[in-house]
Amino acid sequence: MHQRHRPAWAPDEVDIERPSVARMYDYFLGGSHNFACDRELAEQAMKVFPDAPHVVRANRSFLSRAVTALCELGIDQFLDLGSGIPTVGNVHEIVTAARPGSRTVYVDSDPVAVAHASALLSGTPSVSVLHADLRDPDAVLRDAVRAGGLDLSRPVGVLLVSVLPFVPDRDDPAGIVAAYREGTTAGSYLLVSHGTNDYQPTVVGEIEHVYERTTQPGVFRSRDEVARILAGYELLDPGLVDLIHWRPEPGALETDPLDADVARYSLIGGVGRRV
Ligand SMILES: C[S@@+](CC[C@H](N)C(=O)[O-])C[C@H]1O[C@@H](n2cnc3c(N)ncnc32)[C@H](O)[C@@H]1O
Repeated sequence: MHQRHRPAWAPDEVDIERPSVARMYDYFLGGSHNFACDRELAEQAMKVFPDAPHVVRANRSFLSRAVTALCELGIDQFLDLGSGIPTVGNVHEIVTAARPGSRTVYVDSDPVAVAHASALLSGTPSVSVLHADLRDPDAVLRDAVRAGGLDLSRPVGVLLVSVLPFVPDRDDPAGIVAAYREGTTAGSYLLVSHGTNDYQPTVVGEIEHVYERTTQPGVFRSRDEVARILAGYELLDPGLVDLIHWRPEPGALETDPLDADVARYSLIGGVGRRV
């Protein structure tokens, strides 16, 4: 069988014929750490959902606003679960600018995301990269302390940004979130974004169908389902909302590339405080 070109940076264990959500996401963001199979499936997804590149940018913009808000609330250590392939505006860059001396631990299960992050950040002492599955909170929290240097006796910012869609109901996302909540101290925060099926159920059903061909099929959820997953956190203003309405930069909605149409984004999120 014809074997496609394997880039020199691709870790040996990676199947370059099987699309991954991390590399498709990188492609939507305009990155270069993706294979032909990722680009082909991402293009198929864009036939169903042409706004995908704008949606992923809105997701990154929310991440930046929300992480900055947590820094302003005094958080100086971050656990980024499902952190993805490094791109512009990474968490450690945001927190280092907002609160010098902060720590960031990146966690991802995708070998390309981990290899690229490790290569890029090996000389940055305030950052650690863990190759782990976030569905095992005990192991992740243990390694975040031992290898990542997090101090769990102090508040932590935990990020689950566009990653819970890849945790199916049978893996108990609410239970996983609860374990991270219980493993962190009062005054910690959880930052979440999630694709929603509230606005365009047929279209998102077709996207889910496309993603069945990846290594990690995903699901969209209703706002109520996401709210149930976040139970036990006290939501900061403005609550669990359409992402573009979470503390937008002045003028951002007026110049929004999708005319601030929340249905075209189909993306919600919020920040919760552990009490
Ligand atoms: C859509 S990307 C989001 C990346 C980043 N959080 C962002 O919002 O820019 C989802 C990421 O979650 C990772 N992921 C999915 N399931 C995971 C799991 N069970 N454990 C760790 N990482 C996971 C994927 O490999 C991918 O890098």
